[in-house]
Amino acid sequence: ALIPLRVLLDHAAENSYGVAAFNVNNMEQIQSIMEAAKETDSPVIVQASRGARSYSQDNYLRHLMLAASELYPEIPIVMHQDHGNSPETCMSAIENGFTSVMMDGSLKEDGKTPADYDYNVSVTKKVVEMAHAKNVSVEGELGCLGSLETGTGEAEDGHGAEGELSHDQLLTDPEEAERFVAETGVDALAVAIGTSHGAYKFTKAPTGDVLAMDRIEEIHKRLPNCHLVMHGSSSVPQELQDIINKYGGAMKQTYGVPVEEIQRGIKHGVRKINVDTDNRMAITGAIRKVLAENPAEFDPRKYLTPAREAMKQVCIDRMVAFGQAGQA
Ligand code: G3H
Ligand code: 13P
Ligand code: NA
Ligand code: ZN
Repeated sequence: ALIPLRVLLDHAAENSYGVAAFNVNNMEQIQSIMEAAKETDSPVIVQASRGARSYSQDNYLRHLMLAASELYPEIPIVMHQDHGNSPETCMSAIENGFTSVMMDGSLKEDGKTPADYDYNVSVTKKVVEMAHAKNVSVEGELGCLGSLETGTGEAEDGHGAEGELSHDQLLTDPEEAERFVAETGVDALAVAIGTSHGAYKFTKAPTGDVLAMDRIEEIHKRLPNCHLVMHGSSSVPQELQDIINKYGGAMKQTYGVPVEEIQRGIKHGVRKINVDTDNRMAITGAIRKVLAENPAEFDPRKYLTPAREAMKQVCIDRMVAFGQAGQA
């Protein structure tokens, strides 16, 4: 059944686990997640970005999610709007069957320009009022995703937006987080701790100066009952980089967020962990392999079936690592 994010994250908090939130754009990705959930007995968060909604179209997406809940009646599913840029976007998500929305007021409506605190509070509060009236949950975001290695903030497209920003300008301030949650009434709060979207997060295995897990602990101390969300949390596994590069790809060497760091976060209030890039890489690696080894092949099922299998395996790994396995 489709359920609000709040219900799932309350259960996750009571039982000390985290839930991966996987991005989707098409049927195969939804199928991969649902098969992984079935195999591991996991509750599910499926999320669609604005780009995903326009790529797949709301009607397709809504009916695909209804199909998932019909085919897997025993699995609780949250359908979440990722990075809503305005109250209007969140409202149209709600009209299209989403049970949870993110109002990302850390950025202006263009999804690029960092917004000030008052703007963030006002748009987020507005979304909370209208969403809660319809039993839909709300995630807010405070702080600026981006790299502590370079001091670069991030636009929603994952490319650097601003110039040099100091640590304090990028990271979520714990005292401000406490005020933000009280003033907006959000169900979950995304925090900035030095991660960024996409594959190119860190140029070497991250240490505490670029991946500020301590900040999570400080925020959790002030907000022990708030569900924290980690964005940009793909681990960018070496083996997926290697498969892509072995079969004709050209990805630069890069490092993501180690699963052990996420597990540490889960001990300190992290309940939702956003993962998109790892699944994209698994799909791309599998498709590259089939096409490289079978250049005469042209039946999409011949590469989409292994692609789906590869994404399913990433989902299973995360579901087990985050502790959501066995919790459906
Ligand atoms: O927010 C980042 C997610 O990976 C979604 O990416 O906006 O390209 O669909 P997207
Ligand atoms: P990754 O790019 O690390 O998978 O992050 C996805 C994300 O945060 C979506 O909101
Ligand atoms: Na989100
Ligand atoms: Zn994100």
